[in-house]
Amino acid sequence: MTQRYFLCHQHDIAETQPRGFDIETDPSQEPLAVLLIRYDNQLYCYQNRCPHLGIPLNWQPNDFLSLEHTHIQCSTHGALFNPNDGQCIMGPCNGDQLTPLTIECDEDDKIWLKVS
Ligand code: FES
Repeated sequence: MTQRYFLCHQHDIAETQPRGFDIETDPSQEPLAVLLIRYDNQLYCYQNRCPHLGIPLNWQPNDFLSLEHTHIQCSTHGALFNPNDGQCIMGPCNGDQLTPLTIECDEDDKIWLKVS
């Protein structure tokens, strides 16, 4: 069964200001760490988990971008990922990909994470 979880409102996510969320989908498990980013005015959502070591991408809250704000960057070894497809284009996990997650936006401007 698909469940949906409220993340934030659309106006809470500005271009180059991604946000992280910890979503409790199952009380018996660790929360699902999620990264939401607006890029070229499209919203993308990924699991906040670097494919290199399986750890969170950020050290500081909501700090997910490279210096130039062009890519998602892992804080640990600096891997760079395309914001629009999660593909790693540089770093130890080159060729791997962030795990995409499904979101939907409703008529009230709310962004929901869908988990099945
Ligand atoms: S853990 Fe992300 S690049 Fe190594």
